Amino acid sequence: ATILILNGPNLNLLGRREPALYGRETLEDIAAACRARGETLGFAIDFRQSNLEGELVEWIQATHTDVRGIILNAAAYTHTSVAIPDALRAVGLPVIEVHLSNVFAREPFRHHSYVSPVAAGVIAGLGGQGYVLALDAMARLVETEAA
Ligand code: DQA
Repeated sequence: ATILILNGPNLNLLGRREPALYGRETLEDIAAACRARGETLGFAIDFRQSNLEGELVEWIQATHTDVRGIILNAAAYTHTSVAIPDALRAVGLPVIEVHLSNVFAREPFRHHSYVSPVAAGVIAGLGGQGYVLALDAMARLVETEAA
């Protein structure tokens, strides 16, 4: 079983990008932590990043039968995209939304998410740790769905 972890625009710059907000951890560091946790939980981790909305949509559409859930940090597209939540609705897999920063402590335009209505839950403000927490939660969700 595989968990797909998708990252949106500018998250490839993590570690160098506004470190006061987003920390010094790189996206590769977060991917490594997720793969390690995945191994413990018995999931393969498919960890990806794109700066293009359409590419994220195509990856969501292309989820094969081995994918049991999607963890998504849509980054800025969280606040603008209708196509991403539409694709998530179309595939019907459990979704957990993650943000490194506490979006609710930031500018008002970051308080609204088009992804949240499709998500089982949201984790924000805990940095890279949020991805690992989301994986733990996803393991439970997937178990519940299979039961
Ligand atoms: C983010 C929060 C978004 O508002 C922002 O556009 C990002 C990153 C986060 O992980 O904190 O690019 O999703």
